[in-house]
Amino acid sequence: MSTSGEHFSNRFSVVAALAGSAIGLGNIWRFPYMIGEYGGALFVLFYLLCSVFIALPIFFSESIIGRRGGSGVQASFQAINPKGKWSVIGLLCLLTPTLVMSYYSIVGGWSLDYLIKSFEGYFMKVQPAEATKYFSRFTSNPWAPLLMHTAFLGITALIVSKGVEKGIGRINKRVIPVLFVLIVLILVYSLSLPGSKAGVDYLVKVDFKNAGVGVVAAAMGQSFFSLSLGMGTILVYSSYIKKNENIPVSGLLTVLFDTAFAILAAFAIMPAVFSGGIEPSAGPSLVFETLPYIFSSMRGLSPALSYCVPVVFFLAILLAAVTSEMSLLEVGTNYLIESKHMSRKKASWIVFLVGLLLGAPCSLSFGPLRDITLFKKNVFEIFDFSASNVLMFAGALVFTLFVGWRMKKSDVYDELSNGGSLKGIKKLFNPLYFWIKYVIPVVVVLLFVLNLAMS
Ligand code: PHE
Repeated sequence: MSTSGEHFSNRFSVVAALAGSAIGLGNIWRFPYMIGEYGGALFVLFYLLCSVFIALPIFFSESIIGRRGGSGVQASFQAINPKGKWSVIGLLCLLTPTLVMSYYSIVGGWSLDYLIKSFEGYFMKVQPAEATKYFSRFTSNPWAPLLMHTAFLGITALIVSKGVEKGIGRINKRVIPVLFVLIVLILVYSLSLPGSKAGVDYLVKVDFKNAGVGVVAAAMGQSFFSLSLGMGTILVYSSYIKKNENIPVSGLLTVLFDTAFAILAAFAIMPAVFSGGIEPSAGPSLVFETLPYIFSSMRGLSPALSYCVPVVFFLAILLAAVTSEMSLLEVGTNYLIESKHMSRKKASWIVFLVGLLLGAPCSLSFGPLRDITLFKKNVFEIFDFSASNVLMFAGALVFTLFVGWRMKKSDVYDELSNGGSLKGIKKLFNPLYFWIKYVIPVVVVLLFVLNLAMS
C-alpha cells in the first residue's frame, strides 16, 4: 500500500491506468511510420520481441520498486535501501517526466486546437493546401498555442488533483475503451477509401533491406518510449497497486494493449495517407499536416464523413495524450505529496505551474524563439532529445541495477509472486532475475550508445 494510502481499486483500474500512460502520441505518430520505414512485418516482429524480452523486464523492475517502496521515485529508493545514496539518483529521475510533461503538453494543446477546428468544420471547408498550412500558421503564432498548452495542462492537472482512483483511475477506465472504439472507427473508414491498399502493403510487406542492428535499436527505443519506461511513471503508478494484485499480468496486459493500439493506429492511418497519394512521414507533420490535407481532400466523397472523421481522429489523439500526460504529472505530484507533505490539490497545481513555465519556451520555439538552437535543435527538440534519447535510458538502467544489485533477491521474488502465492512465477523467477541482473543493463547501455550514434 502506498504511504499516502491511495490505491487503484481493482485490476481494471490498474491496467487502464498503465495502458493509459503507455498509449499516446508515440503509438499514433511514430509507430505507423516506423513499421513502414524499417521493413514492415519484420519491424513488428522485432518490436514484439523487444517488448517482451527487454521492455517487460524493465517494466517489472520499475513496478517492483514502486510497489515494494510504496512511494514515488525518490522515497521508494530510500524506503528499500535506507543507507544507500540511491535516493539522490531517484531525485534525478524526477527530471525526465518533468521535461516530457512540459513538451508533451504542447502537442496536447495542438490536438485540442485541432479538435476545436474540426468541430467548426474547418478541415472540410478549406482547400487541402490551406489545411496543411494551418499548422505553421498556428504554431508560429505566440499566443494561441500557449493558450491551448495552458488548457491542456489544466485539464490534466484537474484530473490528477482529484486523486489516484477518483481522478486518474476513473478517467482511464472510461477513456481507454473509448479510444479503442474510436481507432477502430477510423480504421474501417480508412480501409474503405479508394487506393488504401497501397497503405496496407506498406505495413505488411516484409523487407530485409533495412534488417540489422539499426532496426533492433529503433524497435527498442520505440518500445521503451511507448511503454513509458525509465521515467518513473510506471514506478509511481505501481506504488498504488494493492499487494494482492498481479504485477506480471498487469505488465503483460499493458504490453498487449499498447501494441494492439499501435498496430490498429498504423492500419487506421497509413491506408488513408496512401489513398491521398502522399509519402508517409513521422512526427508532428504526419498528424498535423498530412492528415488534415487528406481530410480536406476527401470532402468530395461524403460531406458528413469528412466532418466526422477529423472530429473522431483529433478526439482520439487528445484523449490518448491526456491519459499519458496524467501519468507524467503524477510523478511530480506524488513527490510533493510524499516528500514535501503537501495536499494533493496544491501539489498538482504546483506541477501544473512548472509544466506551464517550462513548456512555454518549447511552444515558442515554433514561433518567436525558432532561432534559438543548440546542435541545430530548437528548444522543443532539445527537451525531446535529452528525455527520450538520454535520460529515459539512464532511468531504465538505474531501475534495473537497483533491482538486480541492491534489492534482496527474496524481496524481488516476493513482489513478483505476491509472497509466493503466484505459483507460475516459481519456475520463471531464476532466469528472469538473472536476465534483469546481468543482461538487461548491458543491453540498455548498448542501446543507448547505438541510439546516440544513429541520431
Ligand atoms: N508512452 C507515451 C506515448 O507513447 C509517452 C510517455 C512516455 C508517457 C513516458 C509517459 C511517460 O506517447
